[in-house]
Amino acid sequence: MRKYWYGLSANQRFMIRRLYYLPADRLDSITGKRHKYVPPRGLIYTGSSAGSDKFIKQGQQQLSVLKETSDLKPEDRVLDIGSGIGRTAIALSGYLNSKGSYEGFDVVKLGVDWCNSRLGKDFPNFKFKYVPLYNDLYNDSEQKADDFVFPYEADEFDKVFSFSLFTHMQLTEIQNYFREISRVLKKDGLAFSTFFLFDEKDERRIENNGDYSFPVSREGYKLMSDQVKSGNIAIHKDKLSKMMADEGLEVVKIIDGFWKGVKSIEFQDIVVFKRTD
Ligand SMILES: C[S@@+](CC[C@H](N)C(=O)[O-])C[C@H]1O[C@@H](n2cnc3c(N)ncnc32)[C@H](O)[C@@H]1O
Repeated sequence: MRKYWYGLSANQRFMIRRLYYLPADRLDSITGKRHKYVPPRGLIYTGSSAGSDKFIKQGQQQLSVLKETSDLKPEDRVLDIGSGIGRTAIALSGYLNSKGSYEGFDVVKLGVDWCNSRLGKDFPNFKFKYVPLYNDLYNDSEQKADDFVFPYEADEFDKVFSFSLFTHMQLTEIQNYFREISRVLKKDGLAFSTFFLFDEKDERRIENNGDYSFPVSREGYKLMSDQVKSGNIAIHKDKLSKMMADEGLEVVKIIDGFWKGVKSIEFQDIVVFKRTD
């Protein structure tokens, strides 16, 4: 099912979602049930189009995972890569204090514009940037993420994180993003990202794992589909450590996610990492 959904163009998926959720969105408007920072369901292009309460809860859960794994503090300066339509940012707006600050960037303009016009208006220490980069699932721009330089200074952030970003990027792009994380993260900072990971023990099993099957095998990684390469990627744990080491990063801990059928605090696999110097 997921494979067919990803096979549609970004515009087709957007239109179908908009139409499908139109009645529910109309009802939410009439009843006034929608939280002011949560977009209508038809605009939630990331993950499932949860209603307002669920969207807020998912963000709260992401915040709690960040606190639990990455020592997130209210006064931290944080970078959210692939900030989407503000799911994590909404929760962070109730946690970061006036000494703390948030920067997010994303390749989908709709999400960035929504966040800047709502949350960004009320919280001047929250900023969202649109970066027009190519991603075969989200943006058909010519500009590649392989050599994109993050629009921030070196050593700027206490925490850099991404939820469900590196599951939607290609290996050369991820390599570049590791290089950039290593540059913008403070020496004593921490990074947090979610992935689909595997090793010898679960390699065969994830080739046929229901909605999250990775049948296309490549050197050190597997794809859900060869047609939509950013649809979903799973990376071998050794390959990931090597890619990080090449950019002066090292794994602090890995927590397997419940997509693999284990009990966990997060659906995807969590990797907490830091600079080696
Ligand atoms: C599954 S969504 C997750 C969004 C958000 N992190 C959340 O948890 O709600 C993946 C996001 O990554 C963004 N994205 C994809 N490629 C990107 C890139 N090269 N740089 C920054 N963001 C990217 C997509 O536009 C999308 O918003």
